Amino acid sequence: MNNLKTDSYKGVRDFYPEDMFIQDYIYSVWHSVLQSYGYEHYSASVLEPSEIYEGKTSAEIVSEQTYTFKDRGDRRVTLRPEMTPTITRMVAKKQKSLSFPLRWYSIPNVFRYERPQRGRLREHWQLNVDIFGLDGLEAEAELIEIASAIMRNFGLKDGDFIIKINDRKILEEALAGLGLDENKKILVRKLLDRKDKTKDFEEQMIELVGQSFEKILQPNEKIQELTRKLKARGISNVVFEPMLIRGFDYYTGIVFEIFDTNKDNGRSLFGGGRYDNLLTLFGGEKIGTAGFGMGDVTIREALELRNLLPNRLCPAHVAICPTNELAFDYAASLANRLRVAGIDALVNYDGKKIGEQIKRADKKGIPFIICVGDEEIGKNIFKVKYLKSGKEKELPVEQIADFVSKTLSER
Ligand code: HAM
Repeated sequence: MNNLKTDSYKGVRDFYPEDMFIQDYIYSVWHSVLQSYGYEHYSASVLEPSEIYEGKTSAEIVSEQTYTFKDRGDRRVTLRPEMTPTITRMVAKKQKSLSFPLRWYSIPNVFRYERPQRGRLREHWQLNVDIFGLDGLEAEAELIEIASAIMRNFGLKDGDFIIKINDRKILEEALAGLGLDENKKILVRKLLDRKDKTKDFEEQMIELVGQSFEKILQPNEKIQELTRKLKARGISNVVFEPMLIRGFDYYTGIVFEIFDTNKDNGRSLFGGGRYDNLLTLFGGEKIGTAGFGMGDVTIREALELRNLLPNRLCPAHVAICPTNELAFDYAASLANRLRVAGIDALVNYDGKKIGEQIKRADKKGIPFIICVGDEEIGKNIFKVKYLKSGKEKELPVEQIADFVSKTLSER
């Protein structure tokens, strides 16, 4: 019989501890920035009734990229390809009892049946940040400010990324002005959405609209006002991008995307905009709504490219190294004593020679080792070694935690 394959399903990810360490770091920055802006954390199931994507999200995602199946009760179920319909469903369900404006965030994994490639996978984790109940441009300004704060908190400089903004109404007015029929309008929007993937974009566009389209698209008052508001918030790496459309049908006004300025990381880092009408699809009352999503894949690439990811260390501060099996139980109780004092301790039960144990602890990045043998237990004096400097101290049990925390705080 053949062995089972060890590969994960195509395009989804296994997170070994070294990967999970990076994920946790990314999540920790997301959590801390969002909480500093007063946003509340929410979550939901990865399974949704398929119909919530079929009304007004994105034709491409629904028809080509969702994982949809029938459950045993013949209900159509979809693995969420994005979080926006989910949060809208949740808000609509309790709209009468919630107090607005709402500022909510979540870090769901989402699934899209795409061809796996650099920066694009079939499963990614996506920070979602949304405001419900604000009509003015302050919502967009705050969201873009948060996006910038996230980038800066990761250690990125303003020159490392560019914020592209547009107002869908500019496009819609231009299309109306050209007198195109509905079919042609759909083709123009589709072509714009596929701009980066279309080699002869200019030619195709001229064929559709009869002239160079970009020239007709000029910034409106909203774009100018948002740019001014962002400047007032210390953000000036913003450009007007008249061709930016974003693939979702639900956006109604300002849309924005953030890109790495390093062309080796070509995919967008964030994308979002205003979507005032989506609540009404769920029977909700129309209120001003805007938000964005930011994926874990492209930000990780941006940080890797610039060497901004933290080094992984084993979480333990101390490795307790018993010199023989008889010392195992004592070692376990010593570890517990240290944990109570706030020191994270790991006990080695491999029975290897002490030199070997020290080598392994060092390789894992554990800063301290403590040797535990019959003699040490008898005398209540233990050798505590700080591996980085080689500094060593012989201490009674009662003083170990103190020595470790003091040395750690001096690092
Ligand atoms: P989106 O532009 O489809 O927007 O995705 C947002 C971000 O998720 C992208 O900028 C990218 O970083 C990441 N992303 C998207 N697809 C993939 C993929 N296949 N692999 C890796 N990363 C990916 C939305 O999903 C909107 N629902 C965002 C939103 C929230 N709008 C309002 N609120």
